[in-house]
Amino acid sequence: MSVKKIKLIEPLVGKEELECISEVLSSGWLTEGQKTKEFEERVKNFVDAKYAVATTSCTTAFELALRALDVGPRDEVIVPDFTHPSTGNIVKWVGAKPILVDVDLFSYNVDPKEVEKAITKNTRCIMPVSWGGNPLNMQPLNEMKEKHNLSIIEDAACSLGAQYNGKKTGTMADITCFSFHPRKIITTGEGGMAVTDNPVYAEKLQTLKRFGMTSMNGETKFAQFGTNYKLSDILGAVGVKQMEKITRIINKRIELANYYNDLLAEVDSIRAPEKRENSKHVYQTYAAYIEKEGTRDKLIADLRKENIETQIGTYALHLQPSYERVKKIGKLERAEKLYRNLLALPMCHLMTKKDQEYVVSEIKNLIEKY
Ligand SMILES: Cc1ncc(COP(=O)(O)O)c(C=O)c1O
Repeated sequence: MSVKKIKLIEPLVGKEELECISEVLSSGWLTEGQKTKEFEERVKNFVDAKYAVATTSCTTAFELALRALDVGPRDEVIVPDFTHPSTGNIVKWVGAKPILVDVDLFSYNVDPKEVEKAITKNTRCIMPVSWGGNPLNMQPLNEMKEKHNLSIIEDAACSLGAQYNGKKTGTMADITCFSFHPRKIITTGEGGMAVTDNPVYAEKLQTLKRFGMTSMNGETKFAQFGTNYKLSDILGAVGVKQMEKITRIINKRIELANYYNDLLAEVDSIRAPEKRENSKHVYQTYAAYIEKEGTRDKLIADLRKENIETQIGTYALHLQPSYERVKKIGKLERAEKLYRNLLALPMCHLMTKKDQEYVVSEIKNLIEKY
């Protein structure tokens, strides 16, 4: 057994973040203010979007996005089955109906053919996920959007910095939402952001997250009901520091992924994640497919005994009790396969090639024994 624990993820936070938190605390301004504004500016410029609105999480950003698009009771929203429950839950949360569709076995992203099958006269919105840092091909979804007069909210919780055909994630949907949970590309502990190029949506997002507060003829008014999803300057300041490191973080993740790809090429019965020439995958998750059915969970448990922390990819929503009565398109077999067989490998910033070699050799030894 290795003495050193190899963790799944370790956020790159330290002295710089501590100093800026301390600065905010000393300033006396602890709610949302200039620091969060600066964080929004940085993300907005980084993704080439026109507007950015910080929130308390990606899930609350989704809620604001759905409300800004007036999605509510009786509306149907198409959601991939293979995703974090956040994506589907929030549709129910605003009173609309999630419709679950299957994903592609290789990109792990939604299958456009399945989306097309799910469209009815009640469909209002599609919420595709750029899964684990792998950017979606938005073109077929945009064609459906135009044809059926729909909106698209991209779940890019894990994909800040990703690009498809030279276009950055954050510029391809009506509204795109990011997460700053500690397992994401950058972190503020908890936090999220919605970005858009549409000034009407941006205004709605800003108003709804501040109790419905707006300015009318220079006076503060509450013309609609809103909530409070403001992001404290304490976290906004951490976000600013994290944005200074983002290029370094993404480059390291790509370097780790490329080396895993080389190492896994030597291991039978494991498929490395898809790599496409026309896209920039940022590898928030490096999820490999374990071909030997029924061994993935044993592998996670046995690797833990060797001090190696791994994880499942994510969930198949249709198998969760809360989704029992939610409408499903087809058998969702590919989502189920990914839920049962994907293995997320350690992706820490300070990992060395030797660490990666150790991880892959342990996986290889164990799989050969099963
Ligand atoms: C694909 C996806 N969407 C949404 C979320 C929710 O993000 P948050 O925790 O910031 O609400 C997650 C979190 O893990 C996620 O992986």
